[in-house]
Amino acid sequence: VKLEMHRNVEMFGAVRINDVQRIFEIGPGNAEEDVVEGEIITPSAHRISDILGRMAIIVPIKGENLKLLEGILASIPTRCLVLVLSNSDRKPIDRYKMEAEAVANFCRASKHSCITIHQKDAKIAAALKDAGYSTLLDGYGRVRNGKGEAMVLGIIFAKLFKRQYVGFIDADNFVPSTAYEYIQSFAAGFSMAKTPYSMVRISWRYKPKISAGGLYFRRRGRVSEITNRILNLVISDFTGFGSEIIKTGNAGEHAISLPLAEILQFASRFAIEPYELVNMLEIFGRGEAPEFKKSVKEGVEVLQIESRSPHFHDNKGEEHLNEMLLEGLASVYHSNICSDRVKQEIVSELLSRKAISSADDVGKPRVMDPLSKIDFEAFHSRMRLKTDTIQTFNLNNEVLNLPDMGAQG
Ligand code: GDP
Ligand code: CO
Repeated sequence: VKLEMHRNVEMFGAVRINDVQRIFEIGPGNAEEDVVEGEIITPSAHRISDILGRMAIIVPIKGENLKLLEGILASIPTRCLVLVLSNSDRKPIDRYKMEAEAVANFCRASKHSCITIHQKDAKIAAALKDAGYSTLLDGYGRVRNGKGEAMVLGIIFAKLFKRQYVGFIDADNFVPSTAYEYIQSFAAGFSMAKTPYSMVRISWRYKPKISAGGLYFRRRGRVSEITNRILNLVISDFTGFGSEIIKTGNAGEHAISLPLAEILQFASRFAIEPYELVNMLEIFGRGEAPEFKKSVKEGVEVLQIESRSPHFHDNKGEEHLNEMLLEGLASVYHSNICSDRVKQEIVSELLSRKAISSADDVGKPRVMDPLSKIDFEAFHSRMRLKTDTIQTFNLNNEVLNLPDMGAQG
């Protein structure tokens, strides 16, 4: 991978946010050692491969097309652990079963190490409860619906399998090979990070719009534009200096180092991505955070990498977009770092898009306990009892004590 160095950095307490970096070679390349030439950095191919070998890729999926899922799998390097986290219907048609079968057939051929998990597996919920992590559960003791919830569950399994990085790739991508570019970018970003507490967020170069007149290569989705503007306003108020540093407020495709993922408090559903940035500022923005002495000292770093490929995904309609926008902005609105001025901006933005009818509609999104609250030993020993939905392929199964499905066929 060849990446340009970032041109601008902004610091907020212990948080450093780097400006967007462009890619100049997407593949891992064959550099024997890290090379810096002018403005271009080429991490060694060995380092990229090493980081990929320590990464889990989490694919949240809810009723997406199975052909797209196979394409995503083929775009994930086999060195990565793949975690397919599904919340697809089980009735009247068992779509999860179809997904698990598709993954099974694929992984027998490809030899990917992969785990499929259903978000509603009752035994996982029970294990979480026993491990003192009820924050993911609803009133009936089940894991709640939501993409954020699936992602947090994925991080828990990545930790169980001792991975040091987690990357997130949506399953509804119409051009699945772009996932290859995103994952190489994650690894390149981590290879450049100056601290173990780091996050890499992908900024799409184009998010095209398909209309009667043909394809229009729009720079960003409208929801993203609004979210980025509001997050930059938060920063401007926070520091007293105008800022446009944030270009990845809604980045679904992003990756986090485990040490950082264990500290953050993730928000529910679609608020998860924008709130990660807000929560970092809440925890580390003033540079105090006495309980996080080590991370404050090392610093927390956010890298933003611009993909070369445009992003085409399933269009889920205006209502879905408004829901996403509302959830994301509500997480900003209710943060203690949000000023009254920004609150007013959020309300007027949401009113003008008819996402709310009054300021009272900006409900407070749920924020989950940090993963450091889980008793991992308890969770692990409960997970060694058979669950209803988990399937593993081409893995060392001592961790979960399950039969390996990859060997069959
Ligand atoms: P957008 O791309 O941000 O507009 O959001 P999508 O609706 O496309 O969701 C992103 C990804 O998360 C897709 O792969 C969805 O199938 C998946 N997803 C959405 N909601 C859930 C959920 O509740 N649980 C799980 N496991 N996945 C979800
Ligand atoms: Co999508």
